[in-house]
Amino acid sequence: MTFCRITGTGGYLPGAPVSNDDLVARGIQTSDEWIADRTGIRFRHFAADGEQSSDLALHASVRALEAAGRAAADIDLIIVATSTPDQVFPSTACILQNKLGNRAAVAFDVQAVCSGFVYGLTIAEKFIRSGSHKCALVVGAEVFSRILDWEDRGTCVLFGDGAGAVVLEASDEPGILSTALHADGHYHDILSVPGQVCNGAIAGRPLLQMDGQAVFKFAVKVLGDTAQELMSAAGLPVTALDWLVPHQANIRILQSTARRLDLPMEKIIVTVADHGNTSAASVPLALDVAVRDGRIRTGQHVMLEGVGGGFTWGGVLLRF
Ligand code: ACO
Repeated sequence: MTFCRITGTGGYLPGAPVSNDDLVARGIQTSDEWIADRTGIRFRHFAADGEQSSDLALHASVRALEAAGRAAADIDLIIVATSTPDQVFPSTACILQNKLGNRAAVAFDVQAVCSGFVYGLTIAEKFIRSGSHKCALVVGAEVFSRILDWEDRGTCVLFGDGAGAVVLEASDEPGILSTALHADGHYHDILSVPGQVCNGAIAGRPLLQMDGQAVFKFAVKVLGDTAQELMSAAGLPVTALDWLVPHQANIRILQSTARRLDLPMEKIIVTVADHGNTSAASVPLALDVAVRDGRIRTGQHVMLEGVGGGFTWGGVLLRF
């Protein structure tokens, strides 16, 4: 049986941090106090004009490849999770492949909004475990600043841009212990960007809209349920978890999830204060931060969890 393991991580945040006070200075009717109290967010990063998801993905991928000791030519599968692709087509994964100078990998995008990275990682695991592929690059990359309504203070203060990447390789030892993916399209309209390209124009509203309270309740429920599902599929109690790396939407969602799981906050990797919500990039960015600062170490039990528009949700339990 072929297993797979993460052998390298990388992250990239564009430009200088933008504080809550910087948003006030830009004319948004908000305050540092309101944003920090309700969400835990203090900073986010925004891509420069012309900087695309594939550019952020390239920086994160180069760092993940370096950490894994791999060259771009070693990669035989590229999956990019994004809801803010460079173009309608080709996929951001193919654009990234070209920027990396790789011409042999299978390359495609996954669109599961903030769950996109755990969807991509789960798909890559299935490719590798089947024996068809050996070395995957899985990336979450977003320029959410391009789809925000700057007149809607209830949403525009929440998001930022960034990219995170991992290299996933075939291994004799199990690195991924369990996976879980879910979707329920019944909830498609509580978080959406309903616009589309149609006959050379944008049809519908091309900006993010959200029912914040409905999203909050849904996220807490499914993050808790999925964590239980992943641990019981691996035959482990929640107390065996060393680290939870959840989607970074809001500190209050993370605190409520910790309470539901009876997990101390010290075991939760939190980057939302510095990154904001970077959608599909948030989980691999948080993972990379905690690997590079030495908190996440080889052999530990690490759970990655995503939840986002669709609604979609899921997770991956690793022995790192
Ligand atoms: N600054 C100041 N005041 C604000 C702001 C702001 N940025 N945004 C809203 N307000 C005001 C509103 O106008 C309202 O004022 P009013 O009482 O005078 O009418 C008041 O604050 C309360 O507004 P609500 O929308 O009810 O605020 P709520 O308490 O629900 O908090 C929040 C909003 C923080 C978005 C919350 O619903 C939440 O955390 N939801 C989770 C959603 C989330 O994190 N989504 C991320 C994307 S989804 C995902 O990644 C899974």
